[in-house]
Amino acid sequence: MRTITTINELRDVLRAERREGRTVGFVPTMGFLHEGHISLVNRAKEICDVVVMSIFVNPLQFGPNEDFDRYPRDIPRDSKLAEEAGVSYLFTPGVEEMYPSKMLTNVSVAEVTEPLCGASRPGHFDGVATVVTKLFNIVQPHYAFFGQKDAQQLAVIEQMVYDLSMPVTIVPCPTLREADGLALSSRNVYLSAEEREQALALSRSLRQAQAMVEAGERDVATIRDAVASEISQQPLAVIDYVELLQYPRLGYTARLAEGDRVLLALAVKFGKTRLIDNIIMNV
Ligand code: PAF
Repeated sequence: MRTITTINELRDVLRAERREGRTVGFVPTMGFLHEGHISLVNRAKEICDVVVMSIFVNPLQFGPNEDFDRYPRDIPRDSKLAEEAGVSYLFTPGVEEMYPSKMLTNVSVAEVTEPLCGASRPGHFDGVATVVTKLFNIVQPHYAFFGQKDAQQLAVIEQMVYDLSMPVTIVPCPTLREADGLALSSRNVYLSAEEREQALALSRSLRQAQAMVEAGERDVATIRDAVASEISQQPLAVIDYVELLQYPRLGYTARLAEGDRVLLALAVKFGKTRLIDNIIMNV
């Protein structure tokens, strides 16, 4: 594995790889890698000759009162994990390399960015769309791999790639979970033992909702209320949102219909830690 910190050097090596006819797969991350990231690399290795991973904690996608400064960072640990996973090129630019001067350009996707995390974190998806566009322009991957754990982010990126005819195929990858159901996230390290125990209500409530839908429940408010009520029983949980929307357009609906593809998504705070989780269901 070769670690690269400058845009020019990465462009040079990838130009040579493409000239040799190799397919380039790209796994963009903000680091503090876990098995979820490694599963994206494994999927990339199945499809591509060369796997590029970026680690960049992108300031554009954090609000002023969010956890940009305390977001966990450990490049030596991540480098070891990336190398063991079979990453070919690890791109770890600094903020001054990615944004040498004030960014005057912003990539903004409408509608799919409005509900869920878009409502709770104004500007977040502009920051994501802008950095992913920039990374795509640098890496020029044939394929890019994104986890369904960030289902709204995936919908935003797919819409952006489609609208702007970006020459990349987006490959969605399933959410990875601990044995007890907690979705893997770099932010899990913030949780105290008690918070972590109570956070199991998130995946439990999603499983219960899926069982309700499988048993024939079609009323969205009833399903949403059941999820919210399960989570609210945890004294440390503060619900940001629980929503059941059409996927991937993220439109609201009052009743589910046969054949619908829907996203049940939630965001819940435990102390300062905000966790998200979701399930995509085919009704
Ligand atoms: O999902 C993430 O880790 C980030 O939002 C991404 C896609 C790397 C952009 O900074």
